[in-house]
Amino acid sequence: PLVTSTEMFKKAYNGGYAIGAFNVNNMEIVQGITEAAQELNAPVILQVSKGARAYANHTYLVKLVEAAVIETGLPIVLHLDHGDSFETCKSCIDGGFTSVMIDASSKPFAENIEITKKVVEYAHDHGVVVEAELGALAGVEDEVNVSAEDSHYTRPEEVEEFVTKTGCDSLAIAIGTSHGAYKFTAAQCTRNEKGELVPPPLRFDILDEVVRRLPGFPIVLHGSSSVPQEYVKMVNQYGGKMPDAVGIPEEQLRQAARGAVCKINIDSDLRLAMTGTIRKFFAEHPEKFDPREYLKPARANIKELVKHKIVNVLGCDGKA
Ligand code: G3H
Ligand code: 13P
Ligand code: NA
Ligand code: ZN
Repeated sequence: PLVTSTEMFKKAYNGGYAIGAFNVNNMEIVQGITEAAQELNAPVILQVSKGARAYANHTYLVKLVEAAVIETGLPIVLHLDHGDSFETCKSCIDGGFTSVMIDASSKPFAENIEITKKVVEYAHDHGVVVEAELGALAGVEDEVNVSAEDSHYTRPEEVEEFVTKTGCDSLAIAIGTSHGAYKFTAAQCTRNEKGELVPPPLRFDILDEVVRRLPGFPIVLHGSSSVPQEYVKMVNQYGGKMPDAVGIPEEQLRQAARGAVCKINIDSDLRLAMTGTIRKFFAEHPEKFDPREYLKPARANIKELVKHKIVNVLGCDGKA
């Protein structure tokens, strides 16, 4: 069935693992993710961004996810990713989602509380849960102002007041992850023996302090793609241009999943798997033009990637 994340997070917190929240934009992505989850009997969150709704249409995405529930028999959460307003959240709550994120993290603290609280009241009245965010994820923009970097991390001293006043069900925090395939500039990284970029470690000290203040409360990590170099190389080998794309090392995400982190967001890795696979297919079969022929291996590689995440990063295999 389509479920909320309440039970999933409780079990994940106590069991020392996390649920994968994967972004979906079309049928092949939904199928690749949910076939992987089904084979491994893993709970899964499918999340839809504002951009996904603009691209694929709300109803198509809801129906694709409902189809996945029917086909897999798994408990699946349908979640709004980065809801930007009360209206967007309301439209998803009214339209069949079981979970929404209100991301007012760029607003001043009091305003973030105010808008989050309003979404929580409406959502809870309709049996829907709410993820909120405190702190702004680091991004490449931070490169120009490294000294201001700390101000972008979540301030642990704010989390109790925020959660108490808003009534949110889970909290996304900023501890050094970042969105997209270029999470860190070369200048922020060191290099290993192979010459690959090694990013600065996540701020587990901040996570620990948040957990000390919010014991038992489910924490969410955004921007948690690892940007597999195998796919970056595939993209670059077959005509793409993604120099110095770098993500979060999987071992650090595994460590986060063992603790209070109950939801780990992954989108960019799916995009890389899909794009790398299709670029390779086009290069090797220039005569082919049936979309099924290139979407099939793309879907298969998304499935393999998600299976890898479930087993090696999230630890949620067998937990559905
Ligand atoms: O955090 C953003 C997600 O990766 C969704 O991206 O807004 O391009 O759909 P999008
Ligand atoms: P990535 O860009 O690291 O995949 O992050 C996705 C995300 O946080 C969606 O909300
Ligand atoms: Na966990
Ligand atoms: Zn995000």
